[in-house]
Amino acid sequence: MTCRSIILFGVLALCWQVGCKESNKYDSYTLIRLFPSDSSQIEAVKYLEEPQHQVEFLKRSRGFNDSTDILVPQGRAQLVEDFAKSENIQYDLKPNYGRSFESLERIPRRRVLRGFNVYEYHSYAAILDFIDTLANRYPNLVEAQNIGTSFQGRRMKLVKISQDHNAGNPIIFIDAGIHAREWVAPAMALYLIHRLVNDPEARKKELSGVDWYILPVVNPDGYEFTRASKSNRMWRKTRSKSKAYDCFGVDGNRNYGFKWAVSGVSTNPCDKETYAGPKPFSEPETQMVRNIMMDNAKRIKLYVSLHSYGQYLVYPWGYTGDFVPKEWKKLDALARQVSDAVEGAGGRPFRVMSAGQWYPAAGGSDDFAFGAVGVPYSYTMELTDGHEFLFPEYLLRLVLPQFYEGFKAFGAQIKKEFHGSRG
Ligand code: ARG
Ligand code: ZN
Repeated sequence: MTCRSIILFGVLALCWQVGCKESNKYDSYTLIRLFPSDSSQIEAVKYLEEPQHQVEFLKRSRGFNDSTDILVPQGRAQLVEDFAKSENIQYDLKPNYGRSFESLERIPRRRVLRGFNVYEYHSYAAILDFIDTLANRYPNLVEAQNIGTSFQGRRMKLVKISQDHNAGNPIIFIDAGIHAREWVAPAMALYLIHRLVNDPEARKKELSGVDWYILPVVNPDGYEFTRASKSNRMWRKTRSKSKAYDCFGVDGNRNYGFKWAVSGVSTNPCDKETYAGPKPFSEPETQMVRNIMMDNAKRIKLYVSLHSYGQYLVYPWGYTGDFVPKEWKKLDALARQVSDAVEGAGGRPFRVMSAGQWYPAAGGSDDFAFGAVGVPYSYTMELTDGHEFLFPEYLLRLVLPQFYEGFKAFGAQIKKEFHGSRG
């Protein structure tokens, strides 16, 4: 035994006896929630975006009764507090933020062989397994289409749910998980698949005359990366490797080829949040979503990209807040119907507006679907609020059925407006 392996062995033995906590860089970070209330305070908050402050932005707000949430290393929290005080911006804090990572998200498991529980977070392997099982069990209803592999080679499958795949029905296309850390989004997509397939009511209503295409994890490499260690839990981008720099990943939702990089992006490959990529559609993952949209362009009538968090339901344009498309009233009205349905089921209403009015950011999938593909209804849905990206697993049972009511409202409108009309 070498000296190093003796030490390693000793550490492992000690861990085994006393239980070792995996070290997590976020353990010492402070979550600060800022509540800017007017445009000068909103402007002032931008100062914290300068890289030397080492502030990680989790969510932005432009007022709307909402907070701007940031993560700050221990030694920096005081500076940010001083800044907030000097600008008269309301704030609150949660020190040692990373310590809550595991406990919130996992229910102690007594699982032996219970199948796939839709109220839990799953590994990507388990998700693929769930999809294959459904496709085998319901061959006439569920088709799992291979659409390619992720950067790291993970298989990607589009779930097509239809009572008649040859009828040429209008399609509702939903994706989730382009951002790795937003775990509740894939959970929602999988719950949607589960309800559409297993709830007998769905075959009479949601699936009558409308087909649902669902891609539950757009960025499986990033998803698995956030599951691998607590230090990775806040990862957002893909895991592709930039050639010229020693940095990983592209923000998939800045990578679409419509008004690419005109606003709200970083051009620095080492930016952890909004790097738009070396060119539009540089990522295999966004290429696959583009291909699904192009292959079905005529039939897709609604596109929803699931994200978290903030309880927003936003529509184009995302690249600018200066104007909205001429069809904005229809987009707005359907979003409000969906919000009402969720509220009617006991959930919180959504903040409904154009994405660019919230904050302009170009290269999003919603703008591409609407502006380049011509999908008449296109949205980004930001699920949940108040737990940042760590939405507790035990609450999935409560909120997923509430959100499902919103998807019923989406389905009803698409059926009413497009069923029977060709093209
Ligand atoms: N949170 C999402 C993001 O930052 C919002 C995207 C809204 N759509 C847009 N085109 N900006 O990617
Ligand atoms: Zn997101």
